[in-house]
Amino acid sequence: MALARPWGCPPLRNVPILGDQYTSREFFDREWSSMWTKVWLLMGRSSELSQDGSYQMEEIGPESFIMIRQKDGSIRAFYNVCQHRGSRLLFNNEGISNEIVCPYHGWEWANDGSLSQVQDPEDFIDGNPCDDMTLVEVNCELFAGFIWINMDPECISLKDYLGPVWEEFEAYESHDWIRGPSSTVDVNCNWKVPQDNSCESYHLPSVHPQGLKWIEHSYKYCHFDWCEEGHNRMSIPMVTPSHSLTREELEVDDQLREMLEPWGLKAEDFEGREFETRQTVQSVKRETGSERGYQFDQLFDDQLTDAYHYNIFPNVTVSFAGSEYIGLQRMRPHRRDPERHYYDNFMYLSHGAAARIGATKPEERRFFKYGTDLMNREIADQDLAVSTGQQLGLSSRGYSGVRLAGQEGRVQRFHDVLDEYLEGSRP
Ligand code: FES
Ligand SMILES: [Fe+2]
Repeated sequence: MALARPWGCPPLRNVPILGDQYTSREFFDREWSSMWTKVWLLMGRSSELSQDGSYQMEEIGPESFIMIRQKDGSIRAFYNVCQHRGSRLLFNNEGISNEIVCPYHGWEWANDGSLSQVQDPEDFIDGNPCDDMTLVEVNCELFAGFIWINMDPECISLKDYLGPVWEEFEAYESHDWIRGPSSTVDVNCNWKVPQDNSCESYHLPSVHPQGLKWIEHSYKYCHFDWCEEGHNRMSIPMVTPSHSLTREELEVDDQLREMLEPWGLKAEDFEGREFETRQTVQSVKRETGSERGYQFDQLFDDQLTDAYHYNIFPNVTVSFAGSEYIGLQRMRPHRRDPERHYYDNFMYLSHGAAARIGATKPEERRFFKYGTDLMNREIADQDLAVSTGQQLGLSSRGYSGVRLAGQEGRVQRFHDVLDEYLEGSRP
């Protein structure tokens, strides 16, 4: 069985995908007012807010949000803006707060958004601001260990928004998986460029040739579809050589060996039967997973090896890699420059994977400008390298729009859904 249940794949509308959608300020502003302010956004990680007052701050486009753990254990989210004269309140991405003190005139906001203290309260002719002012709250829900927010007061529930994604994520029981290597990169390309890239595997042979020996590169052996709610999905076999290799090229290389050894399997035993690695690992994981700290009960066999890859509309891609870890990419638009965005590449380790490498607490998140450092995640570094090159071509007078292969249907679907927001037919 390749996938739990097929998704509906509503017909593609084939809206044109043109270069100026990645470069124009006018298009960027329409995206903000008609789409970003209406959708559920994955913004934080609830398991990282460990105590009363733990917070995370995240920026997206011109906005910034504070997500903060309350005394009763719930999490609430507020615009990161002081109601006195508009200063931003917090500048750290994470921390613990007793109260949020505005850096400008020192107004003190409690963690529940109420105003607890101001200077010279008797000097306000409309009365003490503490009596009637609060931070402005946004909708906030928790799911799969993440904090999701929505700026639209009229929004549908997160569960309805995610549709079939909800149930499929739940099966992995990943809500408390721990943050592994994580980077945020300031990149000179539009946020849609890497999200388009995540919507297709057509680039695997040319951009990630190093994977040929351990992940399927032929689209004929992958499955992809999309749902009414606007999200896309793909499953791609891993722990196997690609069917695009010739008989002579088949071998268990070092990376495939690293996928076998933790399960007590030897590369040499698969000489001449390289295509049996995937099924053998599935069987061993099924038999011995729970004693090694993994939770596989709700997963079917293919999920124990393969990448299950979800493009959550609009800006997140989540891959469950062989049920061992999550690779998450999130593309956040810049404040005002359409040709720039913040690319988040986060990893979350399952209990079994964390135990294997001795990880006990979240890894530090690194921030850097593209070109000054590497994420040290080979595939993601390769993807960003082609994304910046593509951005340069998208503004050329010599480019007149895409010509997509069938296996790039999810790229078209992503733009069709975006277009539905822009024309006002969603949500
Ligand atoms: S702007 Fe925050 S206290 Fe004045
Ligand atoms: Fe890629």
